[in-house]
Amino acid sequence: MCGIVAYIGDKEAYPILINGLKRLEYRGYDSAGIALFNGDLNIYKRKGKVKDLVDFMKGKSKVGNRGMGHTRWATHGKPDDINAHPHMSGNDRLSIIHNGIIENYSAIKSTLIKEGHTFKSQTDTEVLVHFIEEIQTRDNLPVEEAVRLALTKVVGAYAIVVMDREDPDKIVAARKASPLVIGIGDGEFFVGSDATPIVEHTKKVVYLNDEEIAVMSKKDGLQIKNMGNEVMTPFVEQLDLKMDEIEKGDYEHFMLKEIFEQPKTIADCMRGRVNASESWLKLGGLQNVEERISKAKRFILAACGTSWHAALIGEYLIEELARIPVEVEYASELRYRNPIINSDDVVIALSQSGETADTMAALEIAKEKGALLYGIVNNVGSSIARFTDSGSYIHAGPEIGVASTKAFTGQVTLLSIMAMNLGYSRGTIPKSYYHQLLHELERIPEKVAKVLESDEQIKYIATEIKDAPNALYMGRGYNFPVALEGALKLKEISYIHAEGYPAAEMKHGPIALIDENMPVIVIATNKSAYDKIVSNVQEVKSRKGIVIAIVDEGEKLISEMADYVIEIPVTDEPLTPLLSVIPLQLLSYHIALLRGCDVDQPRNLAKSVTVE
Ligand code: G6P
Repeated sequence: MCGIVAYIGDKEAYPILINGLKRLEYRGYDSAGIALFNGDLNIYKRKGKVKDLVDFMKGKSKVGNRGMGHTRWATHGKPDDINAHPHMSGNDRLSIIHNGIIENYSAIKSTLIKEGHTFKSQTDTEVLVHFIEEIQTRDNLPVEEAVRLALTKVVGAYAIVVMDREDPDKIVAARKASPLVIGIGDGEFFVGSDATPIVEHTKKVVYLNDEEIAVMSKKDGLQIKNMGNEVMTPFVEQLDLKMDEIEKGDYEHFMLKEIFEQPKTIADCMRGRVNASESWLKLGGLQNVEERISKAKRFILAACGTSWHAALIGEYLIEELARIPVEVEYASELRYRNPIINSDDVVIALSQSGETADTMAALEIAKEKGALLYGIVNNVGSSIARFTDSGSYIHAGPEIGVASTKAFTGQVTLLSIMAMNLGYSRGTIPKSYYHQLLHELERIPEKVAKVLESDEQIKYIATEIKDAPNALYMGRGYNFPVALEGALKLKEISYIHAEGYPAAEMKHGPIALIDENMPVIVIATNKSAYDKIVSNVQEVKSRKGIVIAIVDEGEKLISEMADYVIEIPVTDEPLTPLLSVIPLQLLSYHIALLRGCDVDQPRNLAKSVTVE
């Protein structure tokens, strides 16, 4: 949440900052602002999106070759011009941008008020910059030292950049539990919440570690220290990120691009891991911790949002194929409910961003209890990827649309590989079934491509149901989490109230909602519970509900009863979610578009939730 960007060098900072903010806008978009140094430090900030800031800047001086920018997702204080970042110290000397939450800001603020400080905004960030100012002025310290001392007293999460009007050859950045990347150019430095604002300028980056402070200066280069004031050696890495991965190309929205990328991203997730013709499947992350995994009594899958839905599918996969007991937890609940976690448990965190605060905190608790930590993450080098004992990247590439699509199918692909791998080594899958699944898994990308051919038909269905105020999604077994995910997609981007249910639970309440205005999306590809789902569809139809059925190619019974039918290729039941979720992604996309919603940046949401 919140994106930060900064630049110091010889180039004009303004276009670098604005382009950077546009790239980071998925992290928050309720207000945006920049600080530019051009002999003096000037702040410009505005409620709204980056384009509103750009409009506001029309006719204003944009000169300056150092500066910083921020795009906000409000935590403390409503989204308005005053609460937007950057914030200034009371003496107007220091300016700050911040991603995260200062938890003890209220105590610090009370002390500062007693010292005579007054505040313009309601933000925790303004308190932090006043606190840095207080420390700086008391002992006449250089800005980086004042930042360091202030941060030793701060509780919470932060990625910050601070500029000092009286020391303009420097920008100071620091992080704890919020991501921060430094790009190293030729006599210039870039800062970003992730590498996307940096990659077009340089491929040399340093991922700042927790509780480190970086000072970037044209004269003195880059220096990194820890909170104990020890000098750290920067670990310079080469970025493996291509520009076309972070641009929309010919697509109208990132979400649509990401939906259509899935045949490729699923294949990328399998690359080097699955080979049906040679009959092998492997997962390096599991091999690294083979012994502990083999002794595991239980897997706990922890995640938030869409990743939690993927985790639910993981439960079905791992229990069925590997016969290991699995529990799936919302990370936010796991962290606060005094859970029983033992050293022979494996805690698997699923996260697209690898930065979700609740998921990270759940891992910290699991670590204290001695469990093995495993990360299933998309964002390479992210906090969760670095914190876990082992893990596997899903290799979906940058996901920019706020509603997760290709990361979900990447996570489910990875969990399928994991469950099959464990099942094979534990002898819990019959060999012939294992080989069948292996072949089928390899065919999933081409089958996803086939499902995508239904786009026009799904667009038509979207026009028919776009005005419904509510929708129900139902599925059984592997398709129950898919129903939850379909409902979440619709809620997130079209603002239609939607609920996902296990189909059999309908008669315990939701069936009361069904009338001729209620679209019911039924995912009916199951073989094991087919007769049951046929009955569920009958129950909906006899109450005049509008049935949109996702069925296997050639299916007859449900197709005859349903108002709209989307056929998907037949596959083995454990792999069904990889196909059945695709029409639901497209349906929510088209409905949102028809309703005039901002598909890539839905209201109130942010992609990377680095606050609780
Ligand atoms: C936010 C995003 C969701 C995502 C969830 C978990 O709510 O909008 O798309 O599923 O966070 O994020 P993670 O990065 O941990 O998968």
